[in-house]
Amino acid sequence: MPTPWQHRFAQNAKSTQSSAIRELFKVTANPEVISFGGGLPAPEVFPIGEFKSACDKVLTTNGAMALQYSNSEGYAPLREMIARQMDAYAMKLGLDNILITTGTQQSIDLISKLLLNNAERVLVEDPTFLGALQIFGLFGARFTTVPTDDDGLQTDLLPEAFRSGPRFMYVIPTFQNPAGVTLSMKRREALIALSDQYGIPIVEDDPYSALRFEGETLTPLMALDAARLKTADGYPAGNVIYCGSFSKTLAPGLRLAWIAAPSEVIGKLVQIKQGADLHTPIFVQMAAYECLRDGFLEKHILKIREVYRERRNVMLSAMDEHFPKGMEWTRPAGGLFLWARLPEGMVSAELLRTAIRMNVAFVPGNSFFAVDEKAGERYFRLNFSNMKPERIREGIQRLGKAIGEAQKV
Ligand SMILES: Cc1ncc(COP(=O)(O)O)c(C=O)c1O
Repeated sequence: MPTPWQHRFAQNAKSTQSSAIRELFKVTANPEVISFGGGLPAPEVFPIGEFKSACDKVLTTNGAMALQYSNSEGYAPLREMIARQMDAYAMKLGLDNILITTGTQQSIDLISKLLLNNAERVLVEDPTFLGALQIFGLFGARFTTVPTDDDGLQTDLLPEAFRSGPRFMYVIPTFQNPAGVTLSMKRREALIALSDQYGIPIVEDDPYSALRFEGETLTPLMALDAARLKTADGYPAGNVIYCGSFSKTLAPGLRLAWIAAPSEVIGKLVQIKQGADLHTPIFVQMAAYECLRDGFLEKHILKIREVYRERRNVMLSAMDEHFPKGMEWTRPAGGLFLWARLPEGMVSAELLRTAIRMNVAFVPGNSFFAVDEKAGERYFRLNFSNMKPERIREGIQRLGKAIGEAQKV
């Protein structure tokens, strides 16, 4: 007799749903649709030629290693390169502090396996990255949420949230997904001090900080924490686990990211990663290292910033021109997203239906809210990195019309 699969699925698997963004991909596959939906980088900035040469070099000079099984920690020269990036924040990292992962999506999964028992509580921002919510959901997690404003997470509300007993806090301090906001320096200091006071670890997800268009770079939470809490020889020994990624600075299809943390955390994560996928493809790690070494990464980031800055500017000025009165939106200084709020009484999921008829798409805000989806119903997220400027202008004009139509109903 055929297996009644619905009854066989584990309890936590039953509750997981396809993310709103994956679902949207089905609509946006139509080339007529101008999509501000996914968090896709611009394909025009992928360094295809450089990557091709790097692959060639790796296979020619060290093909046997590139195609063999490898260690779980990751390719040592790549880990060394990552450690040196943190020098800019006067933070000392050794190889024992870094684990290469198959994307931050995996980093969050491994960290959850490390820290989260079934049905325990996680503290998140409201709104937050729905890919992380999906992972925590697979652990049957319960959520405490803290709202964000233009300066990021509202840290004055943290003491009460910490008292709800979360296993850890998950936070995106810089150019947050979805809201595009950045946690101010004062609030970073407050968050670090409170995490120490309450003994609650912080998982810092930082895929976007390199994509800054203006203003001063802010110190990552991990560097602030490590300045206070370190081993006798100066390595981090504090409360923060940091997630970095090459998805937005090199290419997301490589699935290449890393975790930086105190060595005892990395040691345990290495064992968990062995159980998950043994190691991130060593060929990808070696080719990425070959491509990025000798200053290419720094030069490449400057180029990406230029392209995205222009696209953000085009989107903001088109919104100024075409969006009706009563709407509000963020003006992010970097990253890939901005976050808009509809006038009172409007619902973004309903607007999406009208917008799709006009061949323009975005992600409605409700799915970014961990507990109260209704709190997100007036919001939506717009991605400005993936479409070329003329498509952005056209798409925002269509969206302005869609909002106008939906307002009349
Ligand atoms: C905040 C955040 N974390 C993690 C990810 C996933 O990154 P990766 O491609 O490294 O898995 C994304 C992707 O959009 C993101 O926005």
